[in-house]
Amino acid sequence: MNTGNPVRLQKIISQAGVASRRAAEKLMADGRVTINGETAREMGTKADPARDDIRVDGRRIKSAGRLRYILLCKPTGYVTTRSDPERRRTVMELLTGVREYVYPVGRLDYDTEGLLLLTNDGDLASRLTHPRHQVDRTYEARVSGIPDERALERLRTGVPLDGHKTLPADVALLNKGRRDRDGLLLLTIREGRNRQVRRMCEAVGHPVQSLTRTRIGPISDRRLKPGDWRELTAAEITMLRDLVVRPAIPRRSASPRRVPRAAAPPPKASAR
Ligand code: URA
Repeated sequence: MNTGNPVRLQKIISQAGVASRRAAEKLMADGRVTINGETAREMGTKADPARDDIRVDGRRIKSAGRLRYILLCKPTGYVTTRSDPERRRTVMELLTGVREYVYPVGRLDYDTEGLLLLTNDGDLASRLTHPRHQVDRTYEARVSGIPDERALERLRTGVPLDGHKTLPADVALLNKGRRDRDGLLLLTIREGRNRQVRRMCEAVGHPVQSLTRTRIGPISDRRLKPGDWRELTAAEITMLRDLVVRPAIPRRSASPRRVPRAAAPPPKASAR
C-alpha cells in the first residue's frame, strides 16, 4: 500500500486504522493532524505515507496494514455500525480476529438479515455507496398477503417515498400460484434509501415480515449462514472495483445491468 505516491491524508489515516475516512476529515478540520510538523486542515492535502511524518494528536500513525474485504452474513438483532449509543450488539462483535479498522459498507436494518460488506478500503467503500453507481442489491422479503400483479407493477415502476418515487426495480413473486397466506418477493433495487424495501412493500399494502439481503452487485453466497463471514476472493474484489471505477451512466430503466457472473465462493465459510 505504501507506493511512494502521494495519497489523500484522510485515506492514509483511515487505512492506518485510526478512524474512518469521514472521522479523519473531522480530525483534520479540528487541526489534530500534522504532516512533518505542519497542521494539515485542507481536505485535498496529500502525503506520502512511506516518507512523511504523519501524526494525529501528536502520535505518529503506523502505515496501513493489509486491506481487508469481508463478506458477513448479518443475523437479525445486530446494528451495522462500529459502536452503538444504545449498546445494542454490533456486527463488529461477529468479526473475531479482524484487527484492521474495517467498517460496514452501507447498512442493513437491525431486523434485516443477510450479506454485508466490511472493509478498510475507504476508496472502494465510498464508491460502492455513492448514489451515482447504483449498485444493485437483491432482497428476499416475506410479506403479509399475496401481492397482485398491480402491486408488483407498482413496486417495479416506483412508489413515492418522502415525495420521491423509487427507481425502477426488478420484482418477482417467488411463490406465485401457491396457496400460501404470505408472499415471498425477490426485489432488486438500485438505491439505498432508509428502510427502502420495507417502506416500498408497506406502500403497496404488504408489510414486510422478514427481510434478507441475498446479493450485493455481483456478490452472493448462499452457503454463508447468519453469523458467518469470509474474505472476498480476488475475483470478487476485482468485480466490485470494475463496477464502480468507470463513471456510471444514468439509468431509468429496470433492465438489469450486465454484471460479470459471481465467482464461486471459496469452499469453506468460517463460523466465528
Ligand atoms: N431495505 C430495508 O427496508 N431494510 C434494509 O435493511 C435494507 C433495505
